Amino acid sequence: MKIERVWGVWFSPTGSTETLVRAAADSLAGVLDVPVSYRSLNTPVQRQEPLCLGPQELLIVGGPTYAGKLPNKIMPAFRELLRGEKTPAVAVVTFGNRSFDNALAELGAILSEKGFEIVGAAACAAEHAMARSLAAGRPDAEDLDRMTRFCAELGTGLAAAKQLPDPPQIPGDAAAPYYRPLRADGAPANFLRAKPKTDPVRCDRCGLCARLCTMGAIETEDPMQVTGTCIKCQACVQHCPTGAKYFDDPDYLSHLEMLRAHYAAPADSVYFPPYF
Ligand SMILES: Cc1cc2nc3c(=O)[nH]c(=O)nc-3n(C[C@H](O)[C@H](O)[C@H](O)COP(=O)(O)O)c2cc1C
Repeated sequence: MKIERVWGVWFSPTGSTETLVRAAADSLAGVLDVPVSYRSLNTPVQRQEPLCLGPQELLIVGGPTYAGKLPNKIMPAFRELLRGEKTPAVAVVTFGNRSFDNALAELGAILSEKGFEIVGAAACAAEHAMARSLAAGRPDAEDLDRMTRFCAELGTGLAAAKQLPDPPQIPGDAAAPYYRPLRADGAPANFLRAKPKTDPVRCDRCGLCARLCTMGAIETEDPMQVTGTCIKCQACVQHCPTGAKYFDDPDYLSHLEMLRAHYAAPADSVYFPPYF
């Protein structure tokens, strides 16, 4: 098969998915000896232009698992912006040790619906954006090496193939409901309306959080005001240079306690097809 360009595309508020998608795209572009382009879908401005790809391009697209699926406010952007024309694609989701549940199945279904032919897929354990002790520091060097080797294998197969291979079997149900977060006592945790607070002493109003907010929910003029919808992505918390943003919602904190108690064991990443 002739591939002329590789695209790496991600929604990645805290950077783990981006790191893995870049590693995948770089590996495939290297093996196929073609140029690579990258596109972030992190902010509302970045989610305006559609990305229309032809049959001789190859898409690697990634997003994080939120409540067992793709982030519900962002998933429509994947569906609206990505358009293929029998374009081969690799679907990547990350998850923070608990489970990717149905996120990869959902991404696969969206890609198939939008004209892409799935040639590979991966669900990769990565540091939990909310409970950072889970899968802390991942993707690490070993994770990136595995992704690079997986894509090298995939790229070599694609270059030699006369036609697109059969799509790999992706586990999960794209239509399944979202995972319901639990509190430490096992009761349902409801923190849908939780928003980040701002420590007024630490905040120097640099506005970085407003610029990085994936929902455009933080006021640029006064970054202490979160007036829009918050999806708890943690971009503002993790990127704030002074550590001024934090969550103190009791159900949110109790959910983190539950996660730390039950999902501390390192999770395995899974690749399709399972080359190794
Ligand atoms: C709101 C939210 C919900 C999450 N839900 C899950 C989940 O259901 N299962 C899981 O294992 N990890 C979950 N995570 C962890 C993320 O999937 C993980 O941290 C991901 O790698 C973040 O990607 P990013 O660094 O590209 O933003 C969740 C994280 C956030 C912020």
